[in-house]
Amino acid sequence: MSNDRIETGIKGLDDMLQGGFLPQTANLVEGPPGTGKSTFGMQYIYNGIKLHNEPGLIVTFEEFPQQYYRDAESFGWDFRQLEREGKLRVIMTSPEVSRADLESVGGTIETLAREMGARRILVDSISHFGQLAGDPVGLRTVVYGFINSLKREGLTSILTRESPVLLGGDDAEDSTIAFVVDGYILLRYVEIESAIRKALLVLKLRGSDHAKDIRQYEITPRGIEIMSRFEGREGIMSGSPRRMADVFVEAFGKPSR
Ligand SMILES: Nc1ncnc2c1ncn2[C@@H]1O[C@H](COP(=O)(O)OP(=O)(O)O)[C@@H](O)[C@H]1O
Ligand SMILES: [Mg+2]
Repeated sequence: MSNDRIETGIKGLDDMLQGGFLPQTANLVEGPPGTGKSTFGMQYIYNGIKLHNEPGLIVTFEEFPQQYYRDAESFGWDFRQLEREGKLRVIMTSPEVSRADLESVGGTIETLAREMGARRILVDSISHFGQLAGDPVGLRTVVYGFINSLKREGLTSILTRESPVLLGGDDAEDSTIAFVVDGYILLRYVEIESAIRKALLVLKLRGSDHAKDIRQYEITPRGIEIMSRFEGREGIMSGSPRRMADVFVEAFGKPSR
């Protein structure tokens, strides 16, 4: 795989991204609760340290750090050890603090990133930034400023965002964020034959080609693993996929013979 990409190390994903994220880009991972956004981000940070010796920062606004360490441990990722080695820092803060922090020279995130030589950062999640801005335009400005500060530090970031829809659907509200990020990955629950599966789609990767198909993925004891496509089904991202054969019948009527 090409060296000028920031590999996620997530099985199956780097192929979809033509090798990984582009350096110094901001990449949004969006999905409803439990789809594995935090897992995705932690895996990206962990793999960066373990596979590429790239120190990482995790900035979280919602979880208690202990919860973070526990979640990571359940995948076999020893975050405390990595912190002792100076390769990882987990920071719990508020959007207000981190924003002010990044806007001022020599803030905590900037200082830490420099001290550690951090290359990757996970911001989990930016949903709380909504509180900082009253309207979509304001929000876009806040997020844009935040993203650019991260890029200035040479960081390649994953930003997570909670989407309210559990099955399929669009949340047109906040679609403004999609314009300011370089990469945009959507996670969804889909119902197929009375079972809930998970689907991943790369919606956008600025400056690069990427896979356009919808893949099934699972959260395993080793983290996220991308699997097969949803062969022969339409409407996956709507949450209620149908078989291609049924779609054909709906569109063209039953073939007469
Ligand atoms: N060790 C593990 N093995 C398999 N699945 C796990 C493990 N730990 C957590 N999960 C799954 O991951 C899900 C939560 O993922 P998480 O990354 O916290 O989602 P999100 O951040 O999108 O809310 C849980 O619902 C659980 O199904
Ligand atoms: Mg989470």
